[in-house]
Amino acid sequence: MSIETKEEFRPKIVAFCCNWCSYAGADLAGSSRLSYPADVKIIRVPCSCRVNPMFILRAFEKGADGVILCGCHPGDCHYSTGNYYARRRMTLLFSMLDYIGVENGRTRVEWVSAAEGVKFSTTMNEFVEKVRSLGKNVRLEDLRCRN
Ligand code: FES
Repeated sequence: MSIETKEEFRPKIVAFCCNWCSYAGADLAGSSRLSYPADVKIIRVPCSCRVNPMFILRAFEKGADGVILCGCHPGDCHYSTGNYYARRRMTLLFSMLDYIGVENGRTRVEWVSAAEGVKFSTTMNEFVEKVRSLGKNVRLEDLRCRN
């Protein structure tokens, strides 16, 4: 009898978090000892609208299996309307990505305030689970980036 050890697929997740709300929400989740997978790599940005669609494409190209953008709730953006621009941009980008085969489940926009550590943790856990169920992302991957 052979013991077969099948490694569980651990998706690589990139989370862009705005400095003023979502990053603070992630911080709160950490200081409240709420867990979320270590596979989530957070990139702090000044505002959700700072995330150029090219950043998302680049993340997929570099091997990310899922990308999530977190920002302040509508109406709460530190720069007034940044998240409205981000929302419009991402709606277009995500539908284009879906069209070329990057499933909708691999991309997400979520509003997380500085007081929502629980929401941050829950969102990340859900998102990682969703991406895990989709499996490895092979679209847009630049084979030169493989190590
Ligand atoms: Fe948070 Fe603009 S500062 S979305």
